[in-house]
Amino acid sequence: MDPIINPFSPGAGAPPPELAGRKEVLEQTRILFGRVKNNRSEKSILLTGLRGVGKTVLLNEMERIALADEYRTILVEVPENKSLGVLLVPHLRRLLYELDRLAGAGNKVRRGLAVLKSFIGTIKVKVDEIEFGLDIDPEMGTADSGDLEIDLPSLFVAVAEAAIERGSYVAIFIDEIQYLNKKELSALIVAMHKMQQRQLPLVLLGAGLPILPGLAGESKSYAERLFNFPDIGALSEPEAIEALQDPVKEYGVAFEESALLEIFRLTQGYPYFLQEWGYQAWNRAESSPIDLAIVQNASEAVIRRLDENFFRVRFNRLTSGEKQFLRAMAQLGSGPYRTSDTADIMKIKISSLGPNRANLIKKGMVYSPSHGNMAFTVPLFDEFMRRTMPEFEVNG
Ligand SMILES: Nc1ncnc2c1ncn2[C@@H]1O[C@H](COP(=O)(O)OP(=O)(O)OP(=O)(O)O)[C@@H](O)[C@H]1O
Ligand SMILES: [Mg+2]
Repeated sequence: MDPIINPFSPGAGAPPPELAGRKEVLEQTRILFGRVKNNRSEKSILLTGLRGVGKTVLLNEMERIALADEYRTILVEVPENKSLGVLLVPHLRRLLYELDRLAGAGNKVRRGLAVLKSFIGTIKVKVDEIEFGLDIDPEMGTADSGDLEIDLPSLFVAVAEAAIERGSYVAIFIDEIQYLNKKELSALIVAMHKMQQRQLPLVLLGAGLPILPGLAGESKSYAERLFNFPDIGALSEPEAIEALQDPVKEYGVAFEESALLEIFRLTQGYPYFLQEWGYQAWNRAESSPIDLAIVQNASEAVIRRLDENFFRVRFNRLTSGEKQFLRAMAQLGSGPYRTSDTADIMKIKISSLGPNRANLIKKGMVYSPSHGNMAFTVPLFDEFMRRTMPEFEVNG
């Protein structure tokens, strides 16, 4: 069928034709925005989930809800190597200027800009990385201590108070939040603590890998009382069927039930894989309905595409020791894996796994779902490891 009108959208952050199975978390989001607007305190939301489950598209949807609810928004993605301050400053500046243009008396917006200017003075970066252009004197003694855990909360307070003065609300969206360093994550948590204590209208919505709740809890033990950590996972069978069937319906096309069940079996309901299979099946089908034979026929191409792209980009960033480690895990099935079992199968001591394990966590390949356990952050990665390294050799 015509690839030009193919409704499926496999890709990073590509909005799906049907955002299936996320009603509950979206409802939670609406409640958060509504409560904060009404001066009620409510936990901020940090979405956690594996690669390709739809965290980014959900965050984008949440931003749309915030905008419709008259919030001013900031949306950033944390790269692996850039400081939180540098990331936020241009957006906060834009936001304060927006507030400045709104009608309203008082000097809190000017103060917000002055505090931002102080804060900028503490960020040790080349001047040209941030366009200053703030025609205002810094407010000495606020947000300029050089300690992010003190300065970021002061800055957030100043921004939130400026928003109140103009009858506005602020929602900050941060994707890939697990890439923040410890200090930055702590500062963000302290800042949100302050927002909650003072019931200021600034909310945080983040998304990251499942290591996030652990990282947050390690930084500040009260993090669990400040944030909800909704678990964004694979779709259930009816949700996966909806994600496939609904988008094609408007073209007068349908999947046969056996085709849907086969896609569900192969994808285990993981959203990114659903989009890939839907996309390829559509392109291969001559006409409606899309049947089991077409899905089976598409599967080989889909798996090849996944192996060459989605899985391969991650695999290529690994050292040979790390590959061995992951291959050993894959030998044990789909996980989670006990670290001791992985060591056993490699015939090495658990302590010698330490460095590789730490690097794999840092690279975002594995995480620890519970003490002594490990799991892949990429769904179906165990199958890929067995395909790409068919021979498993024990060291030594
Ligand atoms: N609820 C959903 N229903 C159907 N498809 C979805 C859903 N959520 C996401 N997708 C699809 O899944 C793919 C991955 O989405 P997205 O990039 O948001 O995932 P992610 O969790 O941010 O992944 P990563 O951790 O790699 O950044 C996209 O192709 C998107 O269209
Ligand atoms: Mg993402």
